[in-house]
Amino acid sequence: MSDYKALYESKRTSAEEVAKQIQSGWLLGMDAGPTQADALMAAISEKIAQTDTKDVKVQLMLDTYAHPFLEEGWKGKMTGMSWFSSNGLRKAVNGGWADVLPAYYRDIPGHILREYEYDAYCVSVSPMDSHGYFSLATSASYSEAMMQKSKRIFVEVNKHQPRALCAPQIHVSEVAAIVENDHLLPTLAETVLDEKSIAIGNLIAEQIPDGACIQLGIGAIPDAVGAALKVKHDLGIHTEMFTSSMVDLIECGAVNNSKKQTHRGKTVTTFAYGSQKIYDFINDNPAIEILPVDYVNDPNVICLNDNVISINAALEVDLFGQVCAESVGTKHMSGSGGQVDYVRGACQSKGGKSFIAFTSTAKDDTISKIKNILTPGAIVTTSKNDVDYIVTEYGIAHLRGRSLAERAKQLIAIAHPNFRDELTFDARKRGIMV
Ligand code: COA
Repeated sequence: MSDYKALYESKRTSAEEVAKQIQSGWLLGMDAGPTQADALMAAISEKIAQTDTKDVKVQLMLDTYAHPFLEEGWKGKMTGMSWFSSNGLRKAVNGGWADVLPAYYRDIPGHILREYEYDAYCVSVSPMDSHGYFSLATSASYSEAMMQKSKRIFVEVNKHQPRALCAPQIHVSEVAAIVENDHLLPTLAETVLDEKSIAIGNLIAEQIPDGACIQLGIGAIPDAVGAALKVKHDLGIHTEMFTSSMVDLIECGAVNNSKKQTHRGKTVTTFAYGSQKIYDFINDNPAIEILPVDYVNDPNVICLNDNVISINAALEVDLFGQVCAESVGTKHMSGSGGQVDYVRGACQSKGGKSFIAFTSTAKDDTISKIKNILTPGAIVTTSKNDVDYIVTEYGIAHLRGRSLAERAKQLIAIAHPNFRDELTFDARKRGIMV
């Protein structure tokens, strides 16, 4: 059938009608951030609340909507399974009514293909084009793998979803149901850069040569680095998450992707999230490629570009250089995401460097983020064998290839001055040669 408009109309329905199909024991899948299907999740939650349907599971990452099933009281009825948490998922995991799927981001499509069968994949897409395709808009991530393993695909068409030209598409013939749901996409609160973040941003910017290919992670510090890079020239972007500060860098001319060895002239990412400015930038833009994460985050792909510089954040680091970026002790905060993918990719790249950066203290200077040993329960995101540079507002420590004594010395030197004596005492007590 080539009358795609007629096909569209024949599949168009309401979220409530779709929800009627959901049965006990179903596994549903969604992808990261703004492509999550919020109207479908609300309707499905409502149906489950009103009936005896139970044991429905939803895999998702980076929840950006207040999905009802992430609230307390849904245990056993509808359970969130997190590949990476923020907001509601973080609360639900810590509360004991959602679960975590540990993974390197690049491996998620592989886990999906090998381990799971989905009863439905739910996704918010841009309006259909004249050839019958919906663009998956802001997230390639693991969508193609999930669609391949799903018995049915339910789409929510949102006129505010940007049409990403170089990104996965779904044809109207492939979808089981279409629900229209127009609303502005979710955004992140604008980062307020304080003195410490600006100092860290400037320290790292000094290490980034013109022509480098950058990845900036999630959080205030990567944003501060982005702000400090506006004076650079000929930068490229090959990243996991496309952020507001990257749009600024492209618009001010610091990024033109002209020196990349792969995807020259193009910005490469696997998903985008943050501000309306980002979504407007993606729309109909052939210069941004939103590609599956098993490709984008593969260290062997990342390192095809020279001078890859990756910048990510952390919550604490011990004196060996073990990096925790996903929990505060036993309190779950996020996930591994692509941190290790980019640490490895940058270190494999000719001239590449990986920076893990954070302010030296938390909670008004009462807690040092550089620790003798990690807080019990802290999750090691980047191992001591992978770590490269650690940065605080007091300087840069280069750990890769260095001994434990050298690491401890360098890390103590960039700890907050209030904690340096205690860290030195602890290090000596355990026999580290500082
Ligand atoms: N001890 C106690 N509390 C700590 C702490 C520590 N060592 N370090 C941070 N905190 C607290 C902060 O005070 C803050 O508390 P608040 O919410 O009450 O203000 C909270 O934990 C979050 O810390 P913050 O430093 O503001 O986090 P962020 O938003 O900059 O994000 C990460 C930092 C590490 C959580 C984030 O980068 C992440 O999820 N990384 C893992 C994945 C990754 O790196 N992917 C890479 C590509 S996107």
